[in-house]
Amino acid sequence: MTAIWSVDTEEFYKNAVNVSQDNSIMAVVKNNAYHYGLEFAVTQFLRAGIQTFSTTSLKEAVRVREIAPKATIFLMNAVYDFDIVRDNYIHMTLPSLDFYYEHYEALYDIHIHLEFENLLHRSGLKSVDEIRQVLLHHRRNENPNKMIIAGLWTHFGYADEFDVPDYQIERTAWLEIVNTLLDEGYQFPMIHAQNSASYYREDGVLPNHTHARIGIALYGSRPYSTIDHSMIKQALTVKGNIIQIREVNEGDYCGYSFAFEAKHNHTKLAVVDVGYGDGILKSRAQFEALIHGKRYPIRALMMSHMFVEVDEQVHAQDEVILYNDDIRVDEFTFKGVGANSEQLSAMNHDSLIKEYR
Ligand SMILES: Cc1ncc(COP(=O)(O)O)c(C=O)c1O
Repeated sequence: MTAIWSVDTEEFYKNAVNVSQDNSIMAVVKNNAYHYGLEFAVTQFLRAGIQTFSTTSLKEAVRVREIAPKATIFLMNAVYDFDIVRDNYIHMTLPSLDFYYEHYEALYDIHIHLEFENLLHRSGLKSVDEIRQVLLHHRRNENPNKMIIAGLWTHFGYADEFDVPDYQIERTAWLEIVNTLLDEGYQFPMIHAQNSASYYREDGVLPNHTHARIGIALYGSRPYSTIDHSMIKQALTVKGNIIQIREVNEGDYCGYSFAFEAKHNHTKLAVVDVGYGDGILKSRAQFEALIHGKRYPIRALMMSHMFVEVDEQVHAQDEVILYNDDIRVDEFTFKGVGANSEQLSAMNHDSLIKEYR
């Protein structure tokens, strides 16, 4: 018995279809497709009709090119290995004005997306003036072998936040830039800005935009809690097994560092073969696990084990579910355990058995 991380392939595919609807989606497949596996995710997204992918790593972009020879692949981080980018027909961001002036000659034939920095301040041109500067310099550059301006983009860093005005601020600033440049006659084959939260908040792709750049919704988690469960389904299950049931009495301490003190005699604790070494966050262990469809409290988390307080209905070898579509990653996000992607990223794919059903 070993704890298992498993994905229902059909459910994963159906969710991708459901999230995409008839919209043009750029699937974010960074960090090994949010750890679902790059090859698996890209294959299912292609099946669901998605033909555009983005990641932050050149290595992953090249791997996507091998899996999807005809796809459009956008590299969200700038890199300096221009030959590899060119040879693999990878589109790349323009992260700053300095980067442009330093490298515009070396960027020949590469599809470049001009990035607007906006409120996140992680990367990008700082203003419409800086964007115009690049556009004008590029227009005047008579070298026939020059970079190709293929897109305009930004990232909304605050679309997941509801109690602050920042999403509206970054959205307004961005739309003004898009509209100004389009009014001035500039054309961009691709314009994209929205993550999952913005995509649902806006009820689809923003006007004049060619794509929404979606990650977490494609991986089965709602970016915010008022989205109905049925709109985004989780295909992932993470589960362990009960090794044995032990009885403890009032006052007994169980788990490392006095983690749990039994309040009653004959308290039944299931010893489960999954722990923080497998990637279960300590904050997740403040809540329940699912056994035979019923929730039981986790009482202590150890490296390779956890204690779950159970009743007579539960026995050795029973399955203990930490995550599935009935006890979803996003439920714990909204309870403060950590971001959806943080919980997914914590999983230890070296110790958990990985299965695609
Ligand atoms: C630049 C960029 N675009 C899109 C996404 C996708 O965001 P989400 O997973 O919230 O859809 C991310 C994720 O971190 C990102 O960094």
